[in-house]
Amino acid sequence: MNYKSTTIKSKWTKTKWINRSANLRKYVPQTLPFSRSSLSSMLAQYSTVFFKPTGGTGGFNIFRIKKQAKGYQIQHNSTKTHYVTLDALYEQLKKRARGSSYLLQKGIKLAETKGRPFDIRVMVQKTNKGAWNSTALFTKIGKPGKVATNYTQGGKIGFFPQTLSGAGFSKDRIAQKQAELKRLGVSVGRLFDGYSRGFRELGLDVALDKEGRVWILEVNTRPQFYPLKNMKDKSMYRNIMSYARQYGRKK
Ligand SMILES: Nc1ncnc2c1ncn2[C@@H]1O[C@H](COP(=O)(O)OP(=O)(O)O)[C@@H](O)[C@H]1O
Ligand SMILES: [Mg+2]
Repeated sequence: MNYKSTTIKSKWTKTKWINRSANLRKYVPQTLPFSRSSLSSMLAQYSTVFFKPTGGTGGFNIFRIKKQAKGYQIQHNSTKTHYVTLDALYEQLKKRARGSSYLLQKGIKLAETKGRPFDIRVMVQKTNKGAWNSTALFTKIGKPGKVATNYTQGGKIGFFPQTLSGAGFSKDRIAQKQAELKRLGVSVGRLFDGYSRGFRELGLDVALDKEGRVWILEVNTRPQFYPLKNMKDKSMYRNIMSYARQYGRKK
């Protein structure tokens, strides 16, 4: 891709930026670089912890670790394995990392729509005049049995109001969440501007937990939206493209 918008691959760098903001850090589930001691402290606090590559994308190499009555379970894609001790778990994760940098993040129990877990993409774009706008909001509904909701992992793209309605949210609460998420997108855009003026687009992956609380799982600096092109209603795709053309993005 040859259009101009700053890219930051490291999820850890971006997490640290958000954590430095007094207003935004409450949205970040606790995240730490993977080590023996962070693994031990995270599992002492949370029953579910995610293990993911610091530079990953597309939902590849995402592992869910669950504390069990005896030992720990790892799930990758739909395969589950079990380890009796923390040391065995640690050695296994180290092996899976193959020398790459990984993060540990508190697991969020995703809200479900018609029995399927989903998360939300908040697309944020900056105009030529420097104003950040949340230009689209859509959902990624996970394929049953998988740990990542990404389209590349078999997730389905959904419309925000329909998905939330399927999760039992009333019309009023849907409108409220929509406004909250759009504001959050703009706040993250402004925050990132403070670190580089070159950002033109961001894609927030946001989870809603069972209580409807909002969590930022990651911020993408090269967000993909081509699946929107295949939706019956193409207005989201068209709206994103009308901004994207301002910085030379063609698809
Ligand atoms: N802390 C977490 N709690 C619950 N689900 C998570 C967590 N982290 C990641 N996931 C799931 O895995 C998916 C991919 O993780 P993400 O951090 O967005 O990495 P990627 O860059 O590969 O998309 C998320 O969209 C979500 O479905
Ligand atoms: Mg993601």
